Amino acid sequence: MRLSKRDYLYLEKLLKKFDRNTYNEKKYPLLEDGFTESDIIKGIEVLLSKKITMSNITKKFEYEFGKFIGSKYCLMVNSGSSANLLSAFALINPLKKNKLKKGDEFIIPSLCWSTSLWPFIQAGLKPKFIDVDIDNFCLDYNLVNNNYYKNCKAIVNIHILGNCSNIEKIKKYSENKNIHLIEDTCEALGSKYKSKYLGTFGDFGTFSFYYSHQITSGEGGMVICKNLNDYKIMHSLRAHGWDRGISNNKKNNFNFVNSGFNLRPLDLTAAIGLSQFKRLTNMMSIRKKNRNMIIEKLKNSPNWNNQFTFFKPSKNLKPSWFGFPILINNKYLKHKNKFLNYLNSNGIETRPILSGNFLNQPSSKLYKLNKNKLNFNISEQIEKRGFFIGLPTTSLSREKLAMLEKKLLTIEQLK
Ligand SMILES: Cc1ncc(COP(=O)(O)O)c(C=O)c1O
Repeated sequence: MRLSKRDYLYLEKLLKKFDRNTYNEKKYPLLEDGFTESDIIKGIEVLLSKKITMSNITKKFEYEFGKFIGSKYCLMVNSGSSANLLSAFALINPLKKNKLKKGDEFIIPSLCWSTSLWPFIQAGLKPKFIDVDIDNFCLDYNLVNNNYYKNCKAIVNIHILGNCSNIEKIKKYSENKNIHLIEDTCEALGSKYKSKYLGTFGDFGTFSFYYSHQITSGEGGMVICKNLNDYKIMHSLRAHGWDRGISNNKKNNFNFVNSGFNLRPLDLTAAIGLSQFKRLTNMMSIRKKNRNMIIEKLKNSPNWNNQFTFFKPSKNLKPSWFGFPILINNKYLKHKNKFLNYLNSNGIETRPILSGNFLNQPSSKLYKLNKNKLNFNISEQIEKRGFFIGLPTTSLSREKLAMLEKKLLTIEQLK
């Protein structure tokens, strides 16, 4: 349902007024002003139509996403975690060519997100952890040739906070060994390595549209793949295991051809996601400018004393940033907890880098994921030294930059 021009303008005015009333110059949340009036109105139009479940708007979003990113096969789901779940269960599906079997091993960085990992374990596969690169926080390619990984049948490669490692070499490695490559691109939508978007190198690429990511639909995600067979498997798995929407069988909508979940998005979230997606490149360039301004402001401050290290985009990468990651330099490290408490109680929201070294998490201990007690020193270091703050999709004001300079550099006074 489309609102009339008059109703649209009325709503827009109302929403703008609401925005002005909630804006706070002293706060620096993970995401501020994440939704424009038009994003919200697109959602309201779906609500007014009273048809909010997955339908044509989801299809349109999938089509536009594929056209932009260069993939013929895209499926929207209700989260990035669900996108990972679909790729994991596609890998072991009886209809999959070269399918994996229970107990097959896969490589995954120790610095990972919980639902980058668990779906593959839930599918019966066995993780072999690998350390990451201190410059870009992603899988350290130089370690994959170690004998420890020689029997692995898949790599789950995570592109962290818009960055990546040498994806070309990782792809070559997976091709030479004839193993599967999954790109968890949940934090890197829009990042381009040479001429290709991240997520399009592997057999599967997964994306998240959760709050504060490159685009957000509240909750939401996308999974892309390279061939019709994988697409059909995931299409069925996404919705109950039936073949509705992928078969010519129009008479029977209840034909269950595979196992299944219910991971469908709503047309409501698709409408918001699509509206945001149209602004992706614009938001990317604003974020890039904001990032440069923050670094410049901190480094040119009279209080700059080399307190922090900022991570660098990999060679050949045109990054699409998500968040502003910071490593605290050793001299200031013992004050990290006090410092983060100070930031959070003074309006600057912070987050850890992914889940830190995942092997330190209670769930890793519960499931004995590190029986061999291996060390992952760089992941450990990033967990100890790292955190990130938001990177807004609207231009940072001078006042906010000054506020960031003042508050971030208070770490000097805690010394
Ligand atoms: C690398 C990575 N993978 C997967 C996910 C899961 O995405 P979602 O929150 O949409 O389920 C996240 C979430 O932030 C993530 O950072």
